[in-house]
Amino acid sequence: MCGIVGYLGNKEAYPILIKGLHRLEYRGYDSAGVALVNADNSLKVYKAKGKVADLENYAQDKDCSGTIGIAHTRWATHGEPNDINAHPHYSQSATLALIHNGIIENYAVIKEDLKKRGFSFQSDTDTEVLVQLIEYIKTTNKLSLEKAVQLALKQAIGAYAIAVIEKGNPNQIIAARKSSPLVIGVGDDEFFLASDATPIIEYTNKVIYLDDEEVAIIRRGEELSIKTISDVEVTHEVKELEMSLSELEKGGFEHFMLKEIYEQPKRLKEALRGRINIDETEVNLAGIREHKDKFINAKRILIVACGTSWHAGLIGEYLIEEFARIPVEVEYASEFRYRNPIINKDDIVIAISQSGETADTLAAIELAKEAGAFVYGICNVVGASIPRNTDSGSYTHVGPEIGVASTKAFTAQVTVLSLIALTIGKLKGELTDENYLKLVKELASIPNKMERTLKTNQQILNFAPIFTYARNFIYLGRGYNFPVALEGALKLKEISYIHAEGYPAAEMKHGPIALIDAEMPVVVIAPNKGMYEKTISNIQEVKARKGRVISIITEGDETMKELSDFSIEIPETEECFVPLLASIPLQLMAYHIAVVKGCNVDQPRNLAKSVTVE
Ligand code: AGP
Ligand code: GLU
Repeated sequence: MCGIVGYLGNKEAYPILIKGLHRLEYRGYDSAGVALVNADNSLKVYKAKGKVADLENYAQDKDCSGTIGIAHTRWATHGEPNDINAHPHYSQSATLALIHNGIIENYAVIKEDLKKRGFSFQSDTDTEVLVQLIEYIKTTNKLSLEKAVQLALKQAIGAYAIAVIEKGNPNQIIAARKSSPLVIGVGDDEFFLASDATPIIEYTNKVIYLDDEEVAIIRRGEELSIKTISDVEVTHEVKELEMSLSELEKGGFEHFMLKEIYEQPKRLKEALRGRINIDETEVNLAGIREHKDKFINAKRILIVACGTSWHAGLIGEYLIEEFARIPVEVEYASEFRYRNPIINKDDIVIAISQSGETADTLAAIELAKEAGAFVYGICNVVGASIPRNTDSGSYTHVGPEIGVASTKAFTAQVTVLSLIALTIGKLKGELTDENYLKLVKELASIPNKMERTLKTNQQILNFAPIFTYARNFIYLGRGYNFPVALEGALKLKEISYIHAEGYPAAEMKHGPIALIDAEMPVVVIAPNKGMYEKTISNIQEVKARKGRVISIITEGDETMKELSDFSIEIPETEECFVPLLASIPLQLMAYHIAVVKGCNVDQPRNLAKSVTVE
């Protein structure tokens, strides 16, 4: 959601900024813009509704010189996506230009006040209010830009990552953040600024992550200076990025999503390395073992997350309750944070997030911490806000996920939750040695079984065009596969814009069955486990009403094959690990249907990769 890029150094800023915006395109946006202090010290702002390419078109005959600049991709919250509302925004006198990610909640009050003082506004955004406020404070009190930013931010309620530059000053960028991400890249005599590390990695692997309410004063030829908005100096350790540039390329695939689906076996194998010993007899998750007393004595585990991560959380509930015998509740972070939940000191809260920046999940973490609970994070992006705000945690370690629709991050979250459940189950003595060994061995074999599962791609590619007619889909699963049904449905709706609903298979007869007719495709996750016979009955109910059944079945299951219109076979595994395999054909099916429909798979309409607003 929204991308920020900044550059101050000896190179021409514009090409670096544009390349950076392209790198951030995956986050989702509706307009783009850039501000530069030109070689003649003037301050120029160019912006355009649409893609970064539209901005490039617009700016191609303009003066884009200068070695300092800031750039932005906007995901509109206040005011429709158009040229005027796009960032950067000028201040009244056009001496300041500012970009912003987040929401200034009290913008209306500030705007009214500034209007009374003679300020006029061009856009409908909350952002423009902030740049005007900074100018007002700066000129009336004759302050430096740095001080004016500090004072303005003290008045601002809400979330912000901002960067400001000033006419006539080619040597300084002021940046700040609260509840929205911002990373500073430190090169040789140059600085970079970005919402995440992807625009920075090709220039430097040294980064500093700002904390909430901190202001970075980036000056040419000087050390980076960081102060709080209350003017207390702070120092931050320079961190080294582990990411490589090739991880940000499509690597020969048509879309990032397909690349990420295909990466799952290799990435999960790497993620399991060091966490399952070579003999495949022991699981070791450092974050749990270091706090083992907390986990052994936990009365309850609350899982908070959004979207796909919430689906992974639901699978986590089944895993942890089955193997560790601790009661688990799974909550949408957005509901949890606003409903005065009961949180006890001996509760453990597990927050799951691919991006580590989801505003609702971050707020839920804050609430849990205030109530004294121990907070454990499961996150993919190294150094993001969630891992920096939790007591302990595990990275999913599957590399950058660029496709907006989450795929490899989901299976990695489920893998980490499996490791957590097995680790606690073993520590608590809830698992017999025999069962534990069997499960550890099976988990270690999942990457190879994923590889085999990917072979279903051609079959799915062949039948996908048949279903592009559909306006609705139903996904059914029981037990561990109920969340898989939810996730399959979410994937389809996100990228193909076909309405899809996931249900526990047995719930179908309590309502959704009314929708079934010859037009309705029903996807059933039906491995030869658990409620197998009951799932067969559910399929019969669909067939009796002429619904078209696509089933995900265990290899060689002829009964299910005969019952289904299409069936996709996945390798035999333990019931608890079926989600790790069954998700793959569902990802592929959503992908191929969306591609045939001509949809923008990697950047679906209206969606953002990292949802940094409430
Ligand atoms: C996944 O396909 C979605 N785009 C979305 O539901 C996502 O899972 C959700 O926004 C949570 O994101 P997070 O994991 O980065 O917190
Ligand atoms: N609230 C701001 C706007 O609507 C910033 C949105 C964003 O984060 O891109 O312009």
